[in-house]
Amino acid sequence: MIYLDNAATTFPKPECVYKTMDEFLREKCANPGRAGHHMSVETEQEIEKSRVTVARFLGIKTPERMIFTCNATDALNMGIKGLLSEGDHVITTRLEHNSVSRPLKGLENRGLITVTWVNNSDEGFVTADDIKSAIRSNTKLIVCTHASNVLGTIQPIKAIGEVARKSDLIFMVDAAQTMGVVSIDVEDQYIDMLAFTGHKGPFGPPGCGGLYVGERVELKAWREGGTGFEPENLLQPDSLPYKLESGTPNSVGIVGLRAGIEFCIKEGINKIKEHELKLAMRLLNVLNSDDRFEIYGSLDENRKVGIVSLNIEGLQPGDVGAILDTSFNIAVRSGMHCAPYIHREIGTFPQGMVRISPGYFNTIGEIEETIYGLKEIADRSIEDRN
Ligand code: ALA
Repeated sequence: MIYLDNAATTFPKPECVYKTMDEFLREKCANPGRAGHHMSVETEQEIEKSRVTVARFLGIKTPERMIFTCNATDALNMGIKGLLSEGDHVITTRLEHNSVSRPLKGLENRGLITVTWVNNSDEGFVTADDIKSAIRSNTKLIVCTHASNVLGTIQPIKAIGEVARKSDLIFMVDAAQTMGVVSIDVEDQYIDMLAFTGHKGPFGPPGCGGLYVGERVELKAWREGGTGFEPENLLQPDSLPYKLESGTPNSVGIVGLRAGIEFCIKEGINKIKEHELKLAMRLLNVLNSDDRFEIYGSLDENRKVGIVSLNIEGLQPGDVGAILDTSFNIAVRSGMHCAPYIHREIGTFPQGMVRISPGYFNTIGEIEETIYGLKEIADRSIEDRN
C-alpha cells in the first residue's frame, strides 16, 4: 500500500519506536508512582525521562509544566476549559480543527464566553494584525492552529504570540500538524499553552500527546483522581504535573513518543520537513498545471507543511478516495477533515476534498504512482461523462 495519510497519523513508525515499546511493555510496564517496588520506580523514571525529552524538544525550561495527555484534543480541552471563566472573550481563526472550535462553540452556545473567529486570506493564512484588531477589554485567550490540517498552511505564530504577550493575553497553539516537522520554541514564540499529539509528526503511537502550561497560566484541574502524589490529600494536588495528570498514564505510549522524538532529533526536523515538502510540491506542481484538478491553499513551499488538498472536476472526493484505495492501493483522506469553518470558506462544504499527505518514509516513486492514479481517475471520469 502507498500510505499518504500522514496528516491523520504517521505510518509506518521508525523501527526504534516499535522496539522501544515492545521492550518496555515486556520489561518495565508497572504502575508508576503508585508503589515502591523497583519496577514501578523504573517506570516512573522512564516517564520523567520522556517528559524531559519532550520539554527540551519544545524549548520548555520547566519539564513539570509539560503535561502528558491522550492526544491534542485532550490537551486543547484541558487548556481551553481549564482557563476560561464566564464573561471571557476568545480570539481564534476559521482554520481551526473541531478540537478547538467545538469546545469554544460549546462554551459560546451556553452563553459563557464570546468568540471572535478571525478571517484568513484565500490562500489560508491569518495575520497578527487581524488578530490584534479583534482584541477587546475582556479578551483572555488567543488560540490558533500552527498549521491548518486542511490546507497545510503555517500560521505566523511568533507574530501572534508577540501581540498576545504585549496585550497580556494567554496565547495557545495547536501544534497537532507541526510538532516534529516545524521548529517550536515556546519561549521564543511567546507561547503560553501548546497542545500536541504524539502520533503524527513525533512518530509516537496513538493515545499520547501533551500540553505545555506556561508560568502565566493557571488552569482548573481537568480530571481529578489518583496521582500517586500526596495520596493523603482529599483534594486534587495543586502542583504540576500532578494537578493535570490523574489516573494510570499511558506509559508505553509515552516512551514510544520519546523514541519517536529522539528519531526526529537524530534525523533533523528540517530534513524531515524538506523531504515531505519535496514530495508535496511535486504533486502540487504537476496537478496545478492540469485544469481538471482544483488545488486549495497556498503553493508557497516556505509557508506549508506537506499537505496537498484537491478535488477532481466532476467527481466527489469520497469517490476519488475510494478509487485510489481499491484500484490503486493508495491511502489518502477524503471528505470533510473535521474543520468545517475552513471547508465553508473555500467552498468544499459539505463534500470536502481529497487530502494527500506524504510522510518521511514515502518515496518520489510513490508520488509518481499517485499522480498516475489521479490522472487516470480524471481521464476515466471524462470518458464516463462523454
Ligand atoms: N486531525 C486529523 C486529520 O486531520 C485526524 O486527519
